[in-house]
Amino acid sequence: MKLLFLGDVMGRAGRAAITERLPGLKADWGVDFVVVNGENASSGAGLTPDHAKLLLDAGADCVTLGDHAFDQKDMLRFIETEPRVLRPINFAKAAPGQGVRVFTATRGRKVAVAQVLGQVFMKRPFDDPFSAIDLALRPHTLGGAVQAVIVDVHAEATSEKMALGHWCDGRASLVVGTHTHVPTGDAMILPGGSGYMTDAGMCGDYNSVIGMDKAEPLRRFITGMGRERFTPAEGEATLSGVFVETDDRTGKATRIAPVRVGGRLQPSAP
Ligand SMILES: [Fe+2]
Ligand SMILES: [Fe+2]
Repeated sequence: MKLLFLGDVMGRAGRAAITERLPGLKADWGVDFVVVNGENASSGAGLTPDHAKLLLDAGADCVTLGDHAFDQKDMLRFIETEPRVLRPINFAKAAPGQGVRVFTATRGRKVAVAQVLGQVFMKRPFDDPFSAIDLALRPHTLGGAVQAVIVDVHAEATSEKMALGHWCDGRASLVVGTHTHVPTGDAMILPGGSGYMTDAGMCGDYNSVIGMDKAEPLRRFITGMGRERFTPAEGEATLSGVFVETDDRTGKATRIAPVRVGGRLQPSAP
């Protein structure tokens, strides 16, 4: 199967890149299943129901969230009505929605998607991601109940993401990080057969500070004082993520390649 994962969609620029480019890329590359991280798609903070629909209509088969899952309050209700939107499995106990679900890809093949939050350097103390993902993956055996498993590791520390990659190795077709908004150059297949990349990067304007207009972040770094709210940068976005090809029989990755299309980043295609 051909899987495409795109990192955090950042504001209007990120949404525009998804609607303009995703349908064409899906067709050109023969993609069977697409996951898009949408936690920053609405003004950089959370995801409104309308913007969730926009990402789904553009071709996302599943939209994952993150620590900003419910910044847009309408998502609290919407997530209960839209099974294609997932929040982290180890979010607050009372959180609505689900963090793992099985989807149907092309030709009836089953794909399980899960999202897990890291603990290191995160603002809130989320539950242990290692035991949470272990439990979440247990019913979804690769090469058994499902043909592919995708794990979105939403975390700040590269070390924790790599550790979670190895923890899931052999149990997932792809383990990919989100949240830091900068793509890493370490796309690889781990020894157990899982495709892995520490961070997918964002779908946003890279002439920015992690997707935000540069002026206010620079001011805060330089003076230690804030003056305005952060707003997403509005220049052309780069679609950033990772492409993985898998063997349906085993569910393991046979090929992995970084994806960077449009905007300022050096292009990369599978
Ligand atoms: Fe993010
Ligand atoms: Fe995040």
